[in-house]
Amino acid sequence: MDLGIVEVQQSFEEEVCQAGDAEELEKIRVRYLGKKGKITALMRRLGQVPPEQRPAIGKMLNRLKEHAEEVLASRLEELKSRLSEERKEKERLDITLPGRPFQIGRIHPITLILEEIEDIFVSMGFQVAEGPDVELDYYNFEALNIPRDHPARDMQDSFYIDGEVLLRTHTSPVQVRTMESMAPELPVRIIAPGKVYRRDDDVTHSPMFHQVEGLAVDRHITMGDLKGTLLLFSREMFGREREIRLRPSFFPFTEPSAEVDISCIICDGSGCRVCSETGWLEILGAGMVHPQVLEMSGYDPREVTGYAFGMGVERIAMLKYGIDDIRLFYTNDLRMLK
Ligand code: DAH
Repeated sequence: MDLGIVEVQQSFEEEVCQAGDAEELEKIRVRYLGKKGKITALMRRLGQVPPEQRPAIGKMLNRLKEHAEEVLASRLEELKSRLSEERKEKERLDITLPGRPFQIGRIHPITLILEEIEDIFVSMGFQVAEGPDVELDYYNFEALNIPRDHPARDMQDSFYIDGEVLLRTHTSPVQVRTMESMAPELPVRIIAPGKVYRRDDDVTHSPMFHQVEGLAVDRHITMGDLKGTLLLFSREMFGREREIRLRPSFFPFTEPSAEVDISCIICDGSGCRVCSETGWLEILGAGMVHPQVLEMSGYDPREVTGYAFGMGVERIAMLKYGIDDIRLFYTNDLRMLK
């Protein structure tokens, strides 16, 4: 007797193959293995089978039932793992996509020149010193041998905060502050870079600009040391073929005083528009530290001597980069800064 086992198995297999998700599989399970399922029904009919065939057919039915359960379970697993694969694929990050480019900043030309100046002097044994931008009249003028009624104050039209306090007009007060804190220790060998402030505003003057001060104090320091140091600096900064010259000048805090020129970096000294046909470019002021200044700062002018110099950083940057308007440094025009 045949209960139609083969047909039931075939239709079961087909339906399982077509099932697309867990829900459909569950429906198939109910349809075949549930209380009213097709396989369950077959088993119920086992009683109608002649006794001599019963063991064989019973075995077949049991196998069919087990087989059906196995197939359903493994198909369910298969579906689950396919689903999670699909989800992973959908959620995958594409890290090969190029990022959005952003603008990389650059070091400001003034900072570049400042760093270059510092490197040159540090390599010669100078240390970097600092002082406050908001300065006492005493350090800015008085201790530099510029008394209240001295006409030299007119050279540096100042921003006063009150009678005793102002924005420093030069970096020279750092000379005094350094000597005061070091005396009587020797040698003193510092540079002092920083911002300075004056009531000036045109194509070559800005109310805020930068200077680098230099100071060396020791026994037997001479003007020759000053000249040698500045020559070395000029050649490092502006090229090996540079020459320098010192012209007599006046500063209240140095004696003698000099203005220092380098041979023109455009025409090498033959005369051109940049150097007004003179062949020379002024780059700094310098001199031997005035005995009065040494004395006020705690050093004995009979025992020690010193030289000092002060240069404008913007002026050097303008010469080196060929920039003809100082205001370009501060208007943040990226075309210029690049
Ligand atoms: N402090 C002066 C100025 O701003 C520059 C200067 C001249 C500095 C001579 C010095 C020096 O140290 O010796 O005009």
